[in-house]
Amino acid sequence: DLDTLCPDWRSRKTYVCGPQEMLDDAERLWHSEDLPHELSVERFAPTLFADPDARGGVVTFEKSDKEASAEGNTTLLEVGEDAGVLLPSGCRMGICRTCLTPLVSGTVRNLSSGELCSDEGELIQTCISAAVGPVHLDA
Ligand code: FES
Repeated sequence: DLDTLCPDWRSRKTYVCGPQEMLDDAERLWHSEDLPHELSVERFAPTLFADPDARGGVVTFEKSDKEASAEGNTTLLEVGEDAGVLLPSGCRMGICRTCLTPLVSGTVRNLSSGELCSDEGELIQTCISAAVGPVHLDA
């Protein structure tokens, strides 16, 4: 629809920010028009620590009375959503801290820093944390 909405888009400097798929589409289009220098893309995505030996564990969402098996590199937010537990979230990349959830017991890994946390009552960022063994969350 660009030709209809903005007929001179090829002669404009363009800045895009938004969902990954839209950014991918924009890059493909500007490249196909041989105009990659006219496009500036801003991507916000976390760089997560991936441990090939991460073992994961069973995550218990105590308030929701649900539990789910979690891969060691899958965020607790995703594990909860897959289990039907809607945890609070915002940016989903470790910035806004909307997803802070108390850890009842167990150990979690911050996938952004690689740090482990097993402090009872500690508020953890579920969008960038994964289970390291069995985990209980106050959620
Ligand atoms: S959802 Fe923003 S920090 Fe987790």
